[in-house]
Amino acid sequence: MVKLNDAKLSAVLEREHAASLEQKKNRRAAWEASGRPAGMNPQKMDFRISDFHRTNYLSIGPAEGRFMYGQILAKGAKEIVEFGTSFGISTLYLAAAAAETGGRVTGSEFHPEKADRALSNLVAAGLEADIRVGDALETLAGEGPEIDFLFLDGAANLYVPVLDLLEPRLRPGSVIVADNIPVAKDEGHVLLDALQDRQEAYVTSIVSFGQSGMSYSVRL
Ligand SMILES: C[S@@+](CC[C@H](N)C(=O)[O-])C[C@H]1O[C@@H](n2cnc3c(N)ncnc32)[C@H](O)[C@@H]1O
Repeated sequence: MVKLNDAKLSAVLEREHAASLEQKKNRRAAWEASGRPAGMNPQKMDFRISDFHRTNYLSIGPAEGRFMYGQILAKGAKEIVEFGTSFGISTLYLAAAAAETGGRVTGSEFHPEKADRALSNLVAAGLEADIRVGDALETLAGEGPEIDFLFLDGAANLYVPVLDLLEPRLRPGSVIVADNIPVAKDEGHVLLDALQDRQEAYVTSIVSFGQSGMSYSVRL
């Protein structure tokens, strides 16, 4: 059976996606009721001290998860690294794909209570991942095997520093997916600027999922 359709995994995904959606609805309502404070913008918050990052899923949706799952299978990617695990919804898709390719997932999450919940979600789904707790710039540092698939979904202002950190380990032909990339042409993103500056090293496309998108880059 395809891992993604496994009953245990489906049950965990259904529950966690529903909780994430519910939280998102309430978050917006609370924000609007309080006069839309600018502080609601996650790009302007410090993930280390903000309650927003400590308590909110901020997760990908099923379409993004299935997209990455399919890409990992298509590539047969084995060494998979994730920046920004949260409660582990994206990690479930990555780990399910890794279980099919014979690969493994290294995740990263700053908040220990989030990493704990991500781990229990994985266990409940019969999957596994090594989730490094702390600042990814430290926990993902150092030597390691060549990476086949990198998912960037932590603090947006750290996408480029994390790419820099892991670039020496990116295998030619590896894939780098980043979430929360604007699809509107006039909205820029610091990662897209960096990838544009490195056109000799990466070929990048934007994949649209409604109003938000993912960048999809291949290391040349
Ligand atoms: C957008 S959420 C990740 C959502 C997750 N990928 C999913 O789809 O379920 C971003 C997460 O990255 C974490 N984060 C941000 N910067 C980080 C860093 N430097 N090191 C580790 N975790 C970080 C935040 O605490 C937050 O939980």
